[in-house]
Amino acid sequence: MLLGVNIDHVATLRNARGGIEPDVLTAARICKECGVASITTHLREDRRHIKDKDVEAIRMLPRVRLNLEMAMTKEMQEIALRLRPHAVCIVPERRQEVTTEGGLDVAGQLKWAIEFTKPLLEKKIEVSFFIDPDVHQISAVSKTGAPFIELHTGRYSEAFGTLEEEKVFEELKGGAIFAQNFGLKVNAGHGLNYQNVRRMHEIPNLVELNIGHSIISRAVFVGLEQAVKEMKALVEGQVF
Ligand code: PXP
Repeated sequence: MLLGVNIDHVATLRNARGGIEPDVLTAARICKECGVASITTHLREDRRHIKDKDVEAIRMLPRVRLNLEMAMTKEMQEIALRLRPHAVCIVPERRQEVTTEGGLDVAGQLKWAIEFTKPLLEKKIEVSFFIDPDVHQISAVSKTGAPFIELHTGRYSEAFGTLEEEKVFEELKGGAIFAQNFGLKVNAGHGLNYQNVRRMHEIPNLVELNIGHSIISRAVFVGLEQAVKEMKALVEGQVF
């Protein structure tokens, strides 16, 4: 499995003082030096953490694969078509939420999802939809032409270590296998940390995990390089 590091919270910290520290681009460079597969950023409608100039600067970094998370809006589609990130992950977005709560309802807006995806695929951008492990959502994504889904692991992360864990984990695993049977490639992310990430190895053929909050939190104590290296070893299965 590959690791994509979400560096949004470096920008959250920077924006708390409105200055330039900590520098998002330095964070992206450190992640790159650690050999991560992607740098992930979520350009939110309200620009509460990552700003347009951050995404533009990361996009210009050599040998960095940018995975841009964004809402399914005309504005974001235009930005993606202009910047041409390597990948986009289409996420639901509500202004008041603290973080992305739940997966996108692709089945309920399939026509727009197909229209939205088409020009991105034509520009050779890899498109992924961030969804819950729900058969209706998975089969809807398979009709958009997008090659990837990213499964929302938030419920699994919350259930980890509780009586609910097994049930929620089996739903996640079942969703991944169901999607792969449709020919979709499967990524996963949200709420994964240094403990609960280990069980992702029980899900067959996951391609990439996108992890942000736990890595940036650990970086406060051990530094970003160390935090990324530890997570990368876990994701790549070098540490059990
Ligand atoms: N994947 C997606 C689609 C997300 O929206 C997020 C949160 O921005 C993540 C992964 C990373 O979640 P976390 O910060 O909880 O690791």
